[in-house]
Amino acid sequence: MANRRRAKITALGRYVPPRVVTNHDLSKLVDTNHEWIVERTGIHERHWVEKGTPTSELGAKAVDDLLKRRGIEADDIELIIVATVTPDMFFPSTACLIQDKIRATRAWGFDISAACSSFLYALTTGAQFIESGQHSKVLVVGADVMTSILNPEDRTTLILFGDGAGAILLEPCAEGEEAFGVLDYRHEIDGSGGEHLYMPGGGSLNPSSRETVDGKMHYVHQNGQAVFKYAVRKMQELSRSILERNNLTGADIGAFIAHQANLRIIDATANKIGLDQSKVIKNIHKYGNTTAATIPLAIGDAIDDGKLKKGDLVLFAAVGAGFTSGCVLARWAY
Ligand code: UT7
Repeated sequence: MANRRRAKITALGRYVPPRVVTNHDLSKLVDTNHEWIVERTGIHERHWVEKGTPTSELGAKAVDDLLKRRGIEADDIELIIVATVTPDMFFPSTACLIQDKIRATRAWGFDISAACSSFLYALTTGAQFIESGQHSKVLVVGADVMTSILNPEDRTTLILFGDGAGAILLEPCAEGEEAFGVLDYRHEIDGSGGEHLYMPGGGSLNPSSRETVDGKMHYVHQNGQAVFKYAVRKMQELSRSILERNNLTGADIGAFIAHQANLRIIDATANKIGLDQSKVIKNIHKYGNTTAATIPLAIGDAIDDGKLKKGDLVLFAAVGAGFTSGCVLARWAY
């Protein structure tokens, strides 16, 4: 492992739609209130698209932002990996749609479906293509339009989710930067948890029909408590184990950037691994759960707030539908 070519994150781009929806706005749509939402989730507001805005549009805007910041052209991109649970359509893949929108004429690409863990799965996957030496500029995009699959009458899910996109660029570490970049990862799936968070309609099991729509099978279905319990246990377990196998403790971590699904899940994990609160990146209050976009949006806020600096060890963590889960350990390189 000592001499392997490492992948580092060299740029970030973000996009959230301009429309802000507050908890008070939601209390006019369903039987809920600001206090309940804040106490149970930490969410104050979220951004929602205008109806009909596709995931590829958000993703392409995040990539445009990234390209400007990095000062490169779309044609420099070799591979596009898109993490999403709300593709524009079954096919073509959202990677194809984004590739066309940004005119990345030299790139190939594909989508990864792992719900709330998908950004980390995509990051790990992208890093392999850098480490193997096959590619030197890999784009990882996390984008979701969760409002396209939310039941507007279900207060238990409607309040949780937002729309957004983030993108990172992976490039090889330069000589002398061996300690930087993506250092380690741990990922798991546990399909026995599939029944607790899923969208049953529209696939090959229940092809779209009048019955599937009448039965509201084209919406997110969630057993919140079951997901919550699994997320707390698994995020702590994976975070602890990746630290242990790298001979690290919470005190070594410069920034903990977890999937933003519930403030209580993030805080429980941070406490368990002994992290100082100042190291815990939280932005769920302003975006809600944007599924594949939470981690890149949180990276952006950490940079803006001066909480992520070159040389910092970063621990990323996520748990999501599937169940899927993962942790990535990296040393921030810019
Ligand atoms: O990112 C993907 C992974 N997803 C997650 O990580 C979500 C994990 N789960 C959660 O974050 C939490 O379970 C929720 C935020 C979804 C729910 O919080 P909770 O503390 O588990 O609440 P609960 O489901 O136990 O519901 C408590 C009460 C119930 O009323 P009763 O039965 O006690 O009378 C619910 O009907 O709160 C009620 N309730 C609401 N009240 C006001 C449920 N949703 C709402 C609401 N507003 N929006």
